[in-house]
Amino acid sequence: MTAPELEVYLSDSDATDALHHDVRAGLSADPKWLPPKWLYDARGSELFEQITTQPEYYPTRTERELLRHNVREIAVQSEADTLVELGSGSSEKTRLLLDALMATGSLQRFVPLDVSESALRAAMLAVAQEYPGLTVRGAVGDFTQHLELLPASRGGRRLVAFLGGTIGNLLPAERAAFFTALRAALDPGELLLLGAGLSTDPAVMLPAYDDAAGVTAEFNRNVLHVLNRELKADFDVDAFDHVSVWDPQSGWIEMRLRACRAMTVRLPAVGMTIHYAQGEEMRTEISSKFQRAAFGAELREAGFADPTWWTDPDERFALILAAAT
Ligand code: SAH
Ligand code: TRP
Repeated sequence: MTAPELEVYLSDSDATDALHHDVRAGLSADPKWLPPKWLYDARGSELFEQITTQPEYYPTRTERELLRHNVREIAVQSEADTLVELGSGSSEKTRLLLDALMATGSLQRFVPLDVSESALRAAMLAVAQEYPGLTVRGAVGDFTQHLELLPASRGGRRLVAFLGGTIGNLLPAERAAFFTALRAALDPGELLLLGAGLSTDPAVMLPAYDDAAGVTAEFNRNVLHVLNRELKADFDVDAFDHVSVWDPQSGWIEMRLRACRAMTVRLPAVGMTIHYAQGEEMRTEISSKFQRAAFGAELREAGFADPTWWTDPDERFALILAAAT
């Protein structure tokens, strides 16, 4: 096995600066909000992996089946020498892609990128061990900032996988900026493989973000543990309830934390003292659920052409393969 290499696009001090900036902006706003990437410290990444095995959480198993049935075609179409994976987490489903790309003989290198260094390191080591002929070069980075730092292809083409419905965690303006930046980072003909949640029955979507075992609730509250540790804050984590609501106007599930009593919270590292009224809700995450026509138009506008779509029979999730024009 060739030892995997880790690039750092986002240093600890950059991450600290970004956290301070986000907390100052989000917790002084009305209503309060926090960007979702701070959910994913080592514990958050572990809790997310547990979410993916909950019976209510259909996205992971649906996407895995879509990959299983279509990876061969994806591998043949892409002829990729480099597989880039954004928000790679455990890269568990990615094995299906790696297997198919190894079988066609084109793949040389795997480049996973994630903000969660612990999840990234574990995934890189496991992949490097399982695929001895593959160069593994991971990057600690933010996919909303560091796409231009991705390594170029080695004379062939790159395939960029962005799985798990994570595209839906960006606000519409962030999503447009992301597609534009990604298109700018790619050469014509290079491919994007996107996994996206589709708009379906709220009675199916909502339980996926509020499982009976309470794993999602624990995951959501984890952001407060992160603030307590990183900012020496004094959130009483158990005094916040997990709330998830379907917003049909925006077309997204919104995750919130609701203060179950009035509270004053100190955040010494950013010099803030904030107040929560009893019942006050703070937004921690959105998960957009897409409609095919509008989403296809967004991709086209950003410079991705002729997408191939695969969906499950219930049309809950889509895998989309689109080429940079
Ligand atoms: N791709 C995996 C994990 C999805 S969970 C799957 O399909 O199961 C979302 C992943 O994106 C987490 O690993 C999280 O750490 C990462 N992530 C979230 N925001 C990010 C950002 N701004 N930049 C890079 N990675 C991010
Ligand atoms: N990308 C995942 C999704 O939108 C992230 C996620 C799943 C999530 N469950 C969550 C984020 C609960 C916050 C809270 O499906």
